[in-house]
Amino acid sequence: MQAAVVVVGSVNVDVVAELDRFPRPGETLRAAGVRRNVGGKGANQAVAARRVHEAVAFIGRVGEGPDGSDARAALDREGVDVTGLRTVADARTGTAFIQVADGENTIVLDPGANEAWDDLDDTERSVVSEAAVVVCQMEVPTAVTAAAADACTGRLIVNAAPAGALDATLVARCDPLVVNEHELAVLAGRSVDGIGDARAAAAAMTRRGARSVVVTLGARGAVWVTGDDTGEVSPPRVDVVDSTGAGDALVGVLAARLAVGEDLRDAVRWAVTAGSLAVRTTGTHAAYPDLATVADHVADIVSKS
Ligand code: RIB
Repeated sequence: MQAAVVVVGSVNVDVVAELDRFPRPGETLRAAGVRRNVGGKGANQAVAARRVHEAVAFIGRVGEGPDGSDARAALDREGVDVTGLRTVADARTGTAFIQVADGENTIVLDPGANEAWDDLDDTERSVVSEAAVVVCQMEVPTAVTAAAADACTGRLIVNAAPAGALDATLVARCDPLVVNEHELAVLAGRSVDGIGDARAAAAAMTRRGARSVVVTLGARGAVWVTGDDTGEVSPPRVDVVDSTGAGDALVGVLAARLAVGEDLRDAVRWAVTAGSLAVRTTGTHAAYPDLATVADHVADIVSKS
């Protein structure tokens, strides 16, 4: 397997309850609808990348049984190379319990097999080392992410989600580090309030070693910062049906565009376009746009320096 984009990360079964509103503590609510689909930040990013790029591989872990087989089959159907998706004996596949109401979501995670590894094997290292872009997130052990960073000879994207501390060696490899405002606040050790403040906190992360930083701002788009340049992109207003996994669509498309040699400024425009298209319908993979759709909408993005 030789892929331009290699995602090393999590795969889950998402059990999604669609609600009219979120329940209060102690309250029982009837769901308006319930569905199961394959998710996990890593798997979502791989599928989003594959929608716009032909050569994408995923390295991760599932448990034995139907959930693991379903996840593998779903990624395979999408055209993602799943040679590096291994099955762990006596482990269950990760499960995410998701509530969606008014376009927002809450997620409770049972990581299962996503936590049942602490290194890459020789084959996986070799796949990672041949990739133009390697993508990691924080839903697998930090030792796995460190191993991926170590093996990566191309560009490393670290999406620090869910929020958590990052080792200085890893920060220094990020090109870019991708965070939302909350994740940036955790890394910066202070609150981050508004676009200007997000730029300032992102610039501080570059001074801590990150080669570049992209801060995702939901409906407001994203800001990006490198050592000597910065910019901001805003999508047109859209009606949000379900924002679950929209950040993953952004990261996957960002990786794919960087892998074809686009610069960060233009890659972020494509990525924000994909993220904004992904909130228009329910689900994650089902909502991710293909290359032609993103290309049709990328001109609607407003860029500012
Ligand atoms: O980012 C959305 C994803 O987070 C979901 O698919 C869920 O599995 C959790 O990992």
